[in-house]
Amino acid sequence: MIKPNLIILILCIAFYAIGHQPLQAQTTGNFASKADSILQLMTLEEKLGQLNLPVGGDITTGQAGSSDIAISIKAGQVGGLFNLKSAEKIREIQRIAVEETRLKIPLLFGMDVIHGYETLFPIPLGMSSSWDMALVEQSARIAAIEASADGINWTFSPMVDVSRDPRWGRVSEGNGEDPFLGAAIAKAMIQGYQGDDLALSNTIMACVKHFALYGASEAGRDYNTVDMSRQRMFNEYMLPYQAAVEAGVGSVMTSFNDVDGIPASGNKWLMTELLRETWGFDGFVVTDYTAINEMIPHGMGNLQEVSAMALQAGVDMDMVGEGFLTTLEKSLKEGKINQTQIDEAVRRILIAKYQLGLFDDPFRYADPNRSQNEIFTPEHRKVAREIAAQTFVLLKNEGDILPLKKQGTIALVGPMADNRENMAGTWSVAGRFTESVSLKEGLENALGEQAKIVYARGANVVADSLLESRVSIFGKPTYRDERSEEVLIQEALAAVKDADVIVAAMGESAEMSGEASSRSDIEIPQNQRALMQALMDTGKPVVLVLFTGRPLGMAWEEEHMPAILNVWFAGSEAGDAIADVLFGEVNPSGKLTATFPQNVGQVPLFYNHKNTGRPLPEGEWFQKFRSNYLDVSNEPLYPFGYGLSYTNFEYGDISLSSTQLSGDQTLTVKVSVTNTGTVDGAEVVQLYVRDLVASITRPVKELKGFQKVFLKAGESKTVQFDLTQEDLKFYNYNIDFVFEPGEFEIMVGGNSRDVEGSLVNWQ
Ligand code: BGC
Repeated sequence: MIKPNLIILILCIAFYAIGHQPLQAQTTGNFASKADSILQLMTLEEKLGQLNLPVGGDITTGQAGSSDIAISIKAGQVGGLFNLKSAEKIREIQRIAVEETRLKIPLLFGMDVIHGYETLFPIPLGMSSSWDMALVEQSARIAAIEASADGINWTFSPMVDVSRDPRWGRVSEGNGEDPFLGAAIAKAMIQGYQGDDLALSNTIMACVKHFALYGASEAGRDYNTVDMSRQRMFNEYMLPYQAAVEAGVGSVMTSFNDVDGIPASGNKWLMTELLRETWGFDGFVVTDYTAINEMIPHGMGNLQEVSAMALQAGVDMDMVGEGFLTTLEKSLKEGKINQTQIDEAVRRILIAKYQLGLFDDPFRYADPNRSQNEIFTPEHRKVAREIAAQTFVLLKNEGDILPLKKQGTIALVGPMADNRENMAGTWSVAGRFTESVSLKEGLENALGEQAKIVYARGANVVADSLLESRVSIFGKPTYRDERSEEVLIQEALAAVKDADVIVAAMGESAEMSGEASSRSDIEIPQNQRALMQALMDTGKPVVLVLFTGRPLGMAWEEEHMPAILNVWFAGSEAGDAIADVLFGEVNPSGKLTATFPQNVGQVPLFYNHKNTGRPLPEGEWFQKFRSNYLDVSNEPLYPFGYGLSYTNFEYGDISLSSTQLSGDQTLTVKVSVTNTGTVDGAEVVQLYVRDLVASITRPVKELKGFQKVFLKAGESKTVQFDLTQEDLKFYNYNIDFVFEPGEFEIMVGGNSRDVEGSLVNWQ
């Protein structure tokens, strides 16, 4: 009789032979058969281990071998780890997986690499405001190079949740309110992370999240219920996720919310019928952090029941919650799930590991040499500075206060002026916060001896110390000054006394947006506003450099401040990039991707809304028995697509190739754009369409094209868009994706409000 040990040895040799074949143009198909060969060798425990994704936590090298995680790995209970930083630690943990487990299956190493790794780019909402897909892709490419050098092979990005609610803190992590733009960004980011070959040592697997509809949490309160019609879902929210699948994203993360009354992580319609069967996704699905366990308070049953529900829905990997690890065996024995369901999930995770080349070389992503030389490099930081400057949105510039001259005395005031750590913005797990360039340093670098800088803090981020303690976290201190706000203002007034111009660095701190950072009041805190008022009262020109992770209610600032430059949270090189724009080395060209309301009561306020049966006539702001408010007009403060420049752009008339089209014809839309100012600049030319009559109500405008064009002073260019029937399709009452013949208004402009339109009839 053959001894059990011998059988294991034979199996291991067979597995080694399979796992170490050269990887030549491998398709998912042949990875699948390799994965099947491993599956045959696996015990049930080992299979469930592959479905388990614990958080890496703070394992320190040297302890790695003896940590709890190491014990679980050796027992074959771990499929991957996440948010563990450093090539050295990852190598050590990977070594345990491939040397000290029975089947030697390598681990995935994930991380929230959201807007850069150590070299941080602007927060995603800022990145989207560049409207520049090449730059978006480049930022993801650099993030992948740095993360992979440190051992990371999987990022929990892009986050593509459409959101129209600035109360929700996670608007900072997404691309704003438009599905068309969101879809383009999803594709660019996935291309940047995954490249054309996932097995290369400097590409990493992307994970599109949070599937689905997380950005529509009721009242903007994080993790809250989502309930919407299928029409809205498909016409207004799903496109970016679908685009990610089309771009070949390797993995998908479930969302915390429910969709149609069933939490996403247990929603079979969502995870299997739509994602896999309709869209053809063939990667693996991971839950969000403990999302399976959270189905218990959602009212879906106990841990065993919700874990079985998630597996049956099509979820493959359980992040942190261990519901799969601890209950699926019991469910299998009781016939509540079947072996095929487990095997499918394991197979998908093994295939991902093959795609990443981990069986070929489990250490390919943790190269000490690359880790030393390819992270936070001067080249990457230079690109980060250039990109950051492209994301800033000039909201107001009365009397051309900006750009500033490099002369005289410049006063810098405000709680965000001298704070390196907060430049990172939210979700910057691997960032070197203390090495970011603060605005104060940026001004000093730009000015040298040419002008004098005086500085005073002037205000805390918020007057309420309890609130401030909630947003002074994750290594991003706000350096609260315990003196009274009045004393801080007086100190600032004394400091600015001899200044020629005041730069006020105000708004939110980095962690006032992001996860679990919803706000019911979306204005700049009152104590900062009091400081702005005091500065304005000096009669000196004041430029508001606005730090924010969300659209803010800024009616007061728009009314009182002569110049406002929105810089979001711009990452490692923030200070230098802001100085580049303040002094006119770079002409701002960012445009908002989320509407700024006048006040929070208008929320949700978005450009692609539908008409009502009682719309307000254009130019009016109140009429009895019309759809409006008594106390505020329907207009946004700053519309979607809005942003100024140091120059002016003039649009010519739109010319259409035809106003009568049929079938497969292409409509060519042309418009000439001229830079009529005296400096060079870039303009984001936007194309919107309105479907005038349809079988369901349709939005008053939908973005269907955009181009960022660079124009030298005085230069004109003709911008061309081509539209086909495909671009005019929508999901009808039966959720069929259809083209309905009829009249369409084609509009072009520099933002969603100021457009010129022309009608076409398309049969
Ligand atoms: C977030 C995800 C993130 C995950 C892992 C969750 O709380 O919702 O976006 O990827 O944590 O850190």
